[in-house]
Amino acid sequence: MDDTANNLLHKPVMVEEVLDYLNLQSGQIVLDCTVGSGGHTSKIMNRIKPSGFLIGIDKDLEILQMAKQYLSKIECPFKLYHADYSDIDEVLRQAGVEKVNGVVLDLGVSSLQLDRAERGFSFTKEGPLDMRMNRAYGVTAKDLIKKLSERELEELLKKYGEERWSRRIARAVLKEERKVGITSTRQLAVLIERSVPRGKSKIHPATRVFQALRIVVNRELKSLEVFLNKIHDYMMIGARIVIISFHSLEDRIVKNKFIERANQSVFKILTKKPIRPGDAEMKENIRCRSAKLRVAERI
Ligand SMILES: C[S@@+](CC[C@H](N)C(=O)[O-])C[C@H]1O[C@@H](n2cnc3c(N)ncnc32)[C@H](O)[C@@H]1O
Repeated sequence: MDDTANNLLHKPVMVEEVLDYLNLQSGQIVLDCTVGSGGHTSKIMNRIKPSGFLIGIDKDLEILQMAKQYLSKIECPFKLYHADYSDIDEVLRQAGVEKVNGVVLDLGVSSLQLDRAERGFSFTKEGPLDMRMNRAYGVTAKDLIKKLSERELEELLKKYGEERWSRRIARAVLKEERKVGITSTRQLAVLIERSVPRGKSKIHPATRVFQALRIVVNRELKSLEVFLNKIHDYMMIGARIVIISFHSLEDRIVKNKFIERANQSVFKILTKKPIRPGDAEMKENIRCRSAKLRVAERI
């Protein structure tokens, strides 16, 4: 299938590397835990068709519905689940599958989420301060800020954003919150721009704050930990798990869990060091710059 139709949505990261490491055969069962706009999913389905089976998960219903239309054009059986991948037991039970031949996680946000101002993920676009991947559930970034004390916000920015100016930002944000309330992405971004010294860094001063809030709103690290604690039980011997992460907090969790499982003779680590995108991809797709890919095999 020609997949150029999907290129505008979200450019999948390190596709060749993902496919090479998964080492799939026609007829196999694969679990894609972060379907997004279906970039990796479609490539995987093309490898396992016509008799394979793809189980896809995403906690963002709007995105999943778009992916479904796109993936339906591929002649490979598939089922999509609107769920958090930490609920993998329930998803596989519903799919009637006990073990799979391959697992993929491409963590973080999709360009589709970032590009839609109304989702509230982007500090460059005016939108409500939402940031929930699953809009049916949970606390928005706006309500999170309302609930926190200055000390708690400072800690959150330090821990999940590794933000150097966490104290200054927390103070400025909560002052504004008490005065007029913080409701929009640009309001928050401009406030951060004003509260920190202008450094030489090329990244926008709001980058780390938005990352921290997004991680907490979506319980991203908790989901990853819960998932990694059980996924080996659902992998056939020889099955591989490929995980792409976009910041050091995620990458550390993946690295440590792979090492722990390797010490228990459950996983063999296939990437001693994380794999990074090649120069050509780095040039072409700005989003992939921080990507790190790790792979382990069930033994
Ligand atoms: C980087 S995008 C995936 C892009 C996809 N690989 C592609 O090529 O189009 C990450 C996706 O994972 C989803 N996601 C993030 N955390 C999740 C979780 N805990 N459970 C399920 N889906 C999650 C997001 O909603 C988003 O659509």
